[in-house]
Formats: sequence, C-alpha cells, structure tokens
Amino acid sequence: PKLIVVTREGEERALDGQVGHSVMEIIRDAGIDELLALCGGCCSCATCHVHVDPEFAAKLPAMSADEDDLLDSTNDRDATSRLSCQLPFSEELDGLRVRIAEED
Ligand code: FES
Repeated sequence: PKLIVVTREGEERALDGQVGHSVMEIIRDAGIDELLALCGGCCSCATCHVHVDPEFAAKLPAMSADEDDLLDSTNDRDATSRLSCQLPFSEELDGLRVRIAEED
C-alpha cells in the first residue's frame, strides 16, 4: 500500500508503506528528516505531527488523551492533526495522504 507524504516545501512523495509500521516510521525510514520524531514513537514529543487528509479520518484509530494533550502544545494544530507515530499503517489506509505540520 502507498503512503503519500507532502513535505513542508510542498513536495509530494509516494512511499511504499509497510503494513504494521507506523506512519511516522515509514516517513522516517524514507529519509524524510524534517519529521523529527524525537521521542522515537512513544507519544511524548509531538515532533511527528502531521495533517491527515479528512477523507481518511474515519479509518484512523481514535486519539488517546496523551496524543490530544501533546497536539495542544503545538502551534499548527487543526481538526486534521494527528501524531504520525500513533497511526499504524494498514492495507485499509492505502493511498493515505499526510502533510507534515509546521515546525514548532
Ligand atoms: Fe514523538 Fe510521535 S515521535 S510523539
């Protein structure tokens, strides 16, 4: 399945997403280093913040209270905000499109 990533410069890349990896890991492993993911995926840094295409919102796992609190600490939060380390990639998410959020 494909994961579409839009970088801060607006460049769009289609990545081969590995099922079972998080969206953050797929982006990081593709060498897109503007997604810092400083905490390595343990939901404590908010530097893996992305905006998710609303079309996919219903297919995503519910947000935990921790994720919600962390997103509140960012400047670029909106209704499409998620922490990409909290989004396991799956066949169902083929074509998922995420945009890397502005840096805090
Ligand atoms: Fe730190 Fe996602 S990588 S919260």
